[in-house]
Amino acid sequence: MSQLSQKEQWASKIGFILAAAGSAIGLGAIWKFPYVAGTSGGGAFFLVFLIFTLLLGYPLLIGEFVIGRHTQSDAISAYKKLAPHTLWHVTGWIGMIACFILLSFYSVVGGWIILYLFRAVSGELGGLSQVQYGELFGQLISDPFQTLLAQFIFILLTIIVVAKGIQQGIEKASKLMMPALFLLFLLLVFRSMTLDGAIEGLKFLFVPDFSKLTSEAVLYALGQAFFTLSLGVSVMVTYSSYLNKEQSLPKSAISIVVMNAFVVVLAGLAIFPAIFSFGMEPNAGPTLVFAVLPVVFNHIPFGSLFFIAFLILFLFAALTSAFSMIEIIVASVAKNDAKKRQSATWLIGILIFIVGIPSCLSFGVLADFQVFNRTIFDIADFTVSNVLMPLGALLISLFVSLKIAKDTLFDELRQGSTISKLFFDIWFFLIRYVAPIAILIVFLDVLGFLDFLK
Ligand code: PHE
Repeated sequence: MSQLSQKEQWASKIGFILAAAGSAIGLGAIWKFPYVAGTSGGGAFFLVFLIFTLLLGYPLLIGEFVIGRHTQSDAISAYKKLAPHTLWHVTGWIGMIACFILLSFYSVVGGWIILYLFRAVSGELGGLSQVQYGELFGQLISDPFQTLLAQFIFILLTIIVVAKGIQQGIEKASKLMMPALFLLFLLLVFRSMTLDGAIEGLKFLFVPDFSKLTSEAVLYALGQAFFTLSLGVSVMVTYSSYLNKEQSLPKSAISIVVMNAFVVVLAGLAIFPAIFSFGMEPNAGPTLVFAVLPVVFNHIPFGSLFFIAFLILFLFAALTSAFSMIEIIVASVAKNDAKKRQSATWLIGILIFIVGIPSCLSFGVLADFQVFNRTIFDIADFTVSNVLMPLGALLISLFVSLKIAKDTLFDELRQGSTISKLFFDIWFFLIRYVAPIAILIVFLDVLGFLDFLK
């Protein structure tokens, strides 16, 4: 294993891509996207999300990769190296704080998967109606003891893998589980799309109704684009710092963007047709997929077995994202010291669990504790997804284009790839102008500063 000052590296090219894709693909695509699309207007939201993913997400992902691989450093040191004696490393701090809060509520949902998995294995989930699933799930997540225990188990699994170190822990597992997840999703999509009335769900997802697109919905689409790609919080800076110079950054980035978008679409295709076919409402919020999916599996031969397999893969997808959240903090604290890594991971993981307790209880005993009509869970989610992530993305896009020399950027991008000058110029334009301006406009619009235009 890595010793003091010996830099850890990914073992293989595909290892890095899988781990970065593992960070990207997670609850964002499978759990969050469907319910946010469901409450934010469906098709129009989806379209705006896709545009943000391509025009802002892809260039920013390359941007984070450039920072990480060029400096070979953790999220704080990377900014310090490139812009010494400035405040730019605050960008890394924002990322660390965001990931800390993020994991504190992400683990709540991870815990739900574990709870469901136990129920599914013990055979308690078979043959219920969708109303019963909704009720059962509601009961399940309002039970403080079980949910906290499950949340704790989720964090424990994260700690155990990350404490072992990036290469051993994260890389191997991803190689097997990701392709399996794709396959199972295909089965689900097939079943969901062949249900009666599935077409309504497809219309909801693919036919944009722009009258439903509020300023908030646009902000949510922006937040969602960054959230699903793990952007703006320097996670991708950290992961690419373990990368050698032989790998093509633009190619790695595009494969991650495409895989991730693919899972988002698969999740949409698995869930919306079923919602409409079963006469459910798409705006149920965070519990949506947990109420819909078991019903779809009920319509599949050997459905309860497939459901167990699905939950295991879903859990895995959530865990590989959780690894990256804690990894960025651990890397910054422990640098390359293997001993410190162990204790830092445990300490940080346990702190995150403690901070996450109120979020967990938001679905039960603390459900009525609301500020501006939002529970603690919602506030944590909103702060990370719609404030800290876009803010971090704004800073990173400015940092890359203002603080790193253009030649350096071009050189770094050409290591391991054969990009043309044109590609570079377009990328630079997007990250220098389009990304920051778009993020600012969305922020100003939500705050009401652009109301005079309407
Ligand atoms: N991309 C992850 C998901 O979709 C969430 C995440 C965000 C992970 C930011 C790391 C950093 O579930």
